[in-house]
Amino acid sequence: MQAAAVAHPNIALVKYWGKADAARNLPAVGSISITLDTLTTTTSVRFDPGLDGDRFVLDGEVSSPARSSRVHECLELFRRRRPELPPAEVTSANSFPTAAGLASSAAGFAALVTAVDAALGSPFSRDELADIARRCSGSSPRSLVGGFVELALSGEDTRLRPLLAAGDWPLEVVVAVTSNAAKTVGSSAGMEHTRSTSPYYRSWLETSPGDLEAAREAILGRDLEALAAVAEASCLAMHAVTMAARPGLVYFNGATVDCLHRVRALRREGTAVFFTVDAGPQLKAICGPGASELVAAALAEVPGVVDVLRCGLGEGARAVRG
Ligand code: DP6
Repeated sequence: MQAAAVAHPNIALVKYWGKADAARNLPAVGSISITLDTLTTTTSVRFDPGLDGDRFVLDGEVSSPARSSRVHECLELFRRRRPELPPAEVTSANSFPTAAGLASSAAGFAALVTAVDAALGSPFSRDELADIARRCSGSSPRSLVGGFVELALSGEDTRLRPLLAAGDWPLEVVVAVTSNAAKTVGSSAGMEHTRSTSPYYRSWLETSPGDLEAAREAILGRDLEALAAVAEASCLAMHAVTMAARPGLVYFNGATVDCLHRVRALRREGTAVFFTVDAGPQLKAICGPGASELVAAALAEVPGVVDVLRCGLGEGARAVRG
């Protein structure tokens, strides 16, 4: 039994930050993201009774125990449903640098659950795959869907809600890489620290439903100005609640802040663009159709920017010939 799948990273426009239930990795807030194209994670899985345990090979190297353990946990979630599943070898390769801060785990788990499903003859619904992926990484179910998608809270669970296909509003993305250093505090640890120490955590939770509604409306109306306002607000609120933790976590570096001001200056001058920043110092500029060339050139000139990547919006995870 074997199969392969590809998936792309996604970028949240309304942020997920904080867990309602860490054991089930249930987010405390819904989120809305765009799925990218060109930057690709390809994952293949081979179930083999001859193996003496699960094995994970990332970009040609047998992976660290920390990372392998999340892959193993993901396979165990499938084994709860299919106890007969033998050990697996999982091989994954990213076409983009891990340092680009593009949440390779989101694309990685979306590709993994899709590959496992394909290897078993596609018995699972997208909701079941989303549930398994979410328990491994809260942002990863969003990479199961292309274009614009919401991961909505639904009782004690989450539900994927596709909003627009990639081609319906072909926004473009520029990633300004401002540091190649590995991030200091990962998302899970940063969220837990924020939840348990930030005095603004309750306010953060309270602002999310309104931001989700405003973003949904802006996306369905293809209103870039409205989406810019809510996405920048959600990003800065996420960083504000995180900076207010004790001790505060600061994911920005100086170049991140300079890029943010550059993006706002471009918008004032008439370019359709806004920014977002995740749990790292890279700035993602979301551009109107056709605007990314100019934005990439402008951000490349900001001192401290070491690289710029450009891409468009893409499809959800899918099985491929492996
Ligand atoms: C800042 O999905 O990496 O990118 O569920 O703990 O694996 P875990 O977190 P993860 O968090 C993503 C946080 C974010 C915002 C977002 O993508 O919504």
